[in-house]
Amino acid sequence: MEKILDINDLHVSFVTYGGEVQAVRGVDLELYKGETLAIVGESGCGKSVTANSIMRLIPSPPGKIKKGSIHFKGNDMTKLSNKQVRKIRGVDISMIFQDPMTALNPTLTIGNQLTEGLKQHRNISSTQANKQAVDMLKLVGIPNPEERMKQYPHQFSGGMRQRIVIAMALICEPELLIADEPTTALDVTIQAQILQLFQKIQRETGVSIILITHDLGVVAKIADRIAVMYAGKVIETGTRQEIFYRPNHPYTQGLLNSVPRLDQKGEKLIPIAGTPPDLFSPPEGCPFTARCPKAMEVCSRVYPFQTELSGTHAVDCWLQDERAKKYTASP
Ligand SMILES: Nc1ncnc2c1ncn2[C@@H]1O[C@H](COP(=O)(O)OP(=O)(O)O)[C@@H](O)[C@H]1O
Ligand SMILES: [Mg+2]
Repeated sequence: MEKILDINDLHVSFVTYGGEVQAVRGVDLELYKGETLAIVGESGCGKSVTANSIMRLIPSPPGKIKKGSIHFKGNDMTKLSNKQVRKIRGVDISMIFQDPMTALNPTLTIGNQLTEGLKQHRNISSTQANKQAVDMLKLVGIPNPEERMKQYPHQFSGGMRQRIVIAMALICEPELLIADEPTTALDVTIQAQILQLFQKIQRETGVSIILITHDLGVVAKIADRIAVMYAGKVIETGTRQEIFYRPNHPYTQGLLNSVPRLDQKGEKLIPIAGTPPDLFSPPEGCPFTARCPKAMEVCSRVYPFQTELSGTHAVDCWLQDERAKKYTASP
């Protein structure tokens, strides 16, 4: 399979009056053509900063990509000029955010907004652009698309607006779609419909998707692979099956125990006690130590080496490492 995105040792910080917030601290991620990668973790763990780095949307100052590379189809996004990035953004890589209204212009019709991107980036006639926009509205499940093209954003419900935003993101046929908490603002029924829509779009267009969410329940059906983030690091990655049925990191296990699961009805939900560490001065060792029910002496001192549990499953946890005993023995 073709690897379309390869993130290596990404470090992103924000320099503020209070000090340096180390938002992303050495993230490695890869994405293959046609797959859905979910990035999950509690609020503030660096999911959005990672995603925004791919699109070069980190505000600078105060933000800065301090180290690492982000290869998208061979180009290192961290090294491209602003002009080169603008050619990729919205065309080869598109992004969808939580609140659809931020992506829509209230003063323009849906038709105008959909065709605007096309006319800008593709050399096509208005008639062709209109036809493509209507087809795209059909794909995302908007009834009577020809009529709806003439309407304004406020004439649509929240769920329909998010469908339109998805249509806008897809209209230039990107290879990568990044969706940052795309269903968080929607109610549960609509949320399920939008998730089904992502699956349908992927089947029909072959686009690769990065889906970001704080809610593991959201990705239970649609992720091929899952990366679990904590305090600016990816602490466990695996296929959906590996993460849901053989979660290894105590944090992943904690997250799973705290969300409702369709396959385990009636299980009691147990929230993870405590809060994530301050990213101004993140702990030297494993950042989950203070909340971890299985923490050992070594955990607070040294960050764990990564252990490969299978070809697709990897975890950063001392519980998997024989060498932990050696460190425990030292003063
Ligand atoms: N513009 C900014 N200025 C300062 N700190 C920021 C900025 N954007 C994000 N951060 C910090 O970076 C960390 C990661 O944030 P983020 O990636 O948004 O988390 P989430 O996983 O919820 O998406 C947080 O501690 C957040 O406060
Ligand atoms: Mg976020």
